[in-house]
Amino acid sequence: MKKEKLLEVEQLNIKFTTSIGDVNVSDNINFTLNKGETFCIVGESGCGKSVVALSLTRLLPENAVINGSVKFEGFTISDLDDKEFAKIRGQKIATIFEQPMSCINPVMRIGEQIAETYRANFKCSKKEAKLQALKKLEEVKLPANRYNAYPHELSGGMQQRVMIAIALACNPQLLIADEPTTSLDVTVQYQILELLQELKEKYHMTILMITHDMGVVHDMADRIGVMYAGNMMEIAERDAFFKQPLHPYAQELLNVVKDPCHYTIPGTVPNLMEIFSGCPFEPRCQKATEMCKTYKPENSVRDERMVRCLNVIPN
Ligand SMILES: Nc1ncnc2c1ncn2[C@@H]1O[C@H](COP(=O)(O)OP(=O)(O)O)[C@@H](O)[C@H]1O
Ligand SMILES: [Mg+2]
Repeated sequence: MKKEKLLEVEQLNIKFTTSIGDVNVSDNINFTLNKGETFCIVGESGCGKSVVALSLTRLLPENAVINGSVKFEGFTISDLDDKEFAKIRGQKIATIFEQPMSCINPVMRIGEQIAETYRANFKCSKKEAKLQALKKLEEVKLPANRYNAYPHELSGGMQQRVMIAIALACNPQLLIADEPTTSLDVTVQYQILELLQELKEKYHMTILMITHDMGVVHDMADRIGVMYAGNMMEIAERDAFFKQPLHPYAQELLNVVKDPCHYTIPGTVPNLMEIFSGCPFEPRCQKATEMCKTYKPENSVRDERMVRCLNVIPN
């Protein structure tokens, strides 16, 4: 069956200009989200995952310089002016974050916040908005009597559910979830992931999940993008990826999962102010050759698989 594309990101370059130099956070990144799938971007902390995700909804600070093309349902949204873009952000793409309180108003009752978000996007009466908010509360499995609760009266997991209800108030086609369960304990984490999966199926949503946790990737992903130092190193379908990751960095990420108590990838993620002459992973790569120091790998693509390494071709 031919997959329908929802989001197409081409040649995405992002840098931050700072008083001590430029920070290059996205280097010619390309990826596509198919309708109804969960695409996970995985990589160690500081690799540029959140910046790439935030750029898609233009939520980056002013010192960000973004270039490249982003299409949503075949329509180029990267050219839109901010006012037009705000409509897309409100009605088609929603974002949830690690810290729910970053998007919840601490002094407003949670039910009213969900209702207000609904009313901001769909013109309707207050009564209708309240009914919709109650429906959303039920969908995220919060009891109706919490409608009048204030955020501080709820646990972290419940606040996460409120944030999801606010995000879904506009029935988005795309949900960007940036480390949504990282600060939760394991049982609650599992419940939230299960909830996201359920809502995704109910609304045929597409999810872009950002995570550093291979367990989350394993449970949630249909396809995976591995990011390192502002580069997309590999893109693969889930089963093929876990059977045989191709990029040496992806292999290292899985080595850590297999032996989390003892194994760590040697070295650290580089400072993104550095200009890389060759492959940015070369200093940490067990399979690097002399060439990797000087030549920057290109994307090589075959069928559904992409890999960016001089020594590996997808087959
Ligand atoms: N406003 C900014 N100005 C300069 N550098 C920034 C800014 N925001 C993020 N960065 C840098 O971008 C890099 C990638 O950050 P981020 O996308 O948050 O990584 P990840 O989500 O993969 O952990 C980091 O090195 C960070 O310091
Ligand atoms: Mg992040």
